[in-house]
Amino acid sequence: MRRYRIAVLPGDGVGREVVPEAVKVLDAAAGAIGGFELEYIEVPCGGVYYLETGKEWPDDAFDTCRKADAVLFGAVGWPKAVLPDGQLAGIRILLDLRFGLDLYANVRPARLYEGVEPLAPGKDKVDFVVVRENTEDLYAPIRGILDRGGVEDAAVDVRILTRKGCERIIDYAFKLCLSRSGAPADGKRRVTCVDKSNVLDGCRFFRKIFDEVAAKYPSVERDYVYVDAMTQWMIRSPEHYDVVVTTNMFGDILSDLSSVLIGGMGMAPSGNIGDRHAMFEPVHGTAPDIAGKNVANPIGSILSAKMMLEWLAQRNGDSSCSKAAQLIEQGVAEILAEGKVRTPDLCKGKYANVKPSRTSEVGDAIAKKIESRK
Ligand code: NAI
Ligand code: MG
Repeated sequence: MRRYRIAVLPGDGVGREVVPEAVKVLDAAAGAIGGFELEYIEVPCGGVYYLETGKEWPDDAFDTCRKADAVLFGAVGWPKAVLPDGQLAGIRILLDLRFGLDLYANVRPARLYEGVEPLAPGKDKVDFVVVRENTEDLYAPIRGILDRGGVEDAAVDVRILTRKGCERIIDYAFKLCLSRSGAPADGKRRVTCVDKSNVLDGCRFFRKIFDEVAAKYPSVERDYVYVDAMTQWMIRSPEHYDVVVTTNMFGDILSDLSSVLIGGMGMAPSGNIGDRHAMFEPVHGTAPDIAGKNVANPIGSILSAKMMLEWLAQRNGDSSCSKAAQLIEQGVAEILAEGKVRTPDLCKGKYANVKPSRTSEVGDAIAKKIESRK
């Protein structure tokens, strides 16, 4: 029996509430399929951990993540947990993992399930993936503040795009596109390049490399949009999009935007994927406004765990993991379509009269659905 070691970092706030539900559902799926086992190594981390210990995570935490087969992450950041340099405690953990494990592809699917009301009404065909470059652009640590006599006078963040970085993310997007069934509008396989190449040299460079890579995939349609225009096209015509590839900062913004099409932040999963390591986390943060109340939607985290199984399946040639991932997908889709068990964020529109369930009740219901398939 194959055994996978999963480093689990719930972090702060609702991360600590949704990650246990993802683990519950993973166990249900592994139990139902058999053929593999998951071992969890829990790693405390984040802003609250910093307030308690003076460290953002234990000294051996990065190594634990590096040696694990995959990482399951919640979210980090807590009000008042601030480092002496003014940075929010915990955020560096995410960047250390993304850069340190070279997790260059941030894959953020946006799919509207039956039984979920989009926050942008009228758009019922949404099934695209934002592929965001994850290791360079404005997030590369080339920055600083010019301080003269205690006065912060100027700040600089340098945007760097490399050929290697652009080629591999664009290639990832085209390969992913080949594994999907096309855009909901017309069934065409399409990769959309999002940039600001009418102004920025970096973006002209990105688009040029996009064309070079696209030439290797003649069966996939090429599409180009400027990022500012994309913020309205994505809402007006989401059914046109299949795979959207873009640089780090633009992808960060567009993927939050896409969550309004699929029922909100609580529904959005993501993977941070490299050639050897991967980490999976919901798109949302620690949601201090709702934390501690057992009301956070765990589905973004549960669907991230599903993506983790898909990645383990691909990396290890393990079909039992991909079957378990399918069970999770079906369990989530069925619970949503039934329209009875859902957290308050989904009790909207047609579902306004549904009695809201707790975070843990949603996890229980999905796990039970999966177990009923045994
Ligand atoms: P957020 O994603 O935590 O919250 C934005 C809105 O979405 C809030 O109204 C929140 O209640 C709602 N929301 C989030 N998750 C939800 C869920 N599972 N179910 C239902 N509703 C949900 O973003 P915000 O407020 O900008 O950031 C809060 C903290 O999280 C900050 O400290 C920030 O730095 C951190 N953060 C951490 C991230 C990470 O660790 N990957 C990502 C984004 C933010
Ligand atoms: Mg973000």
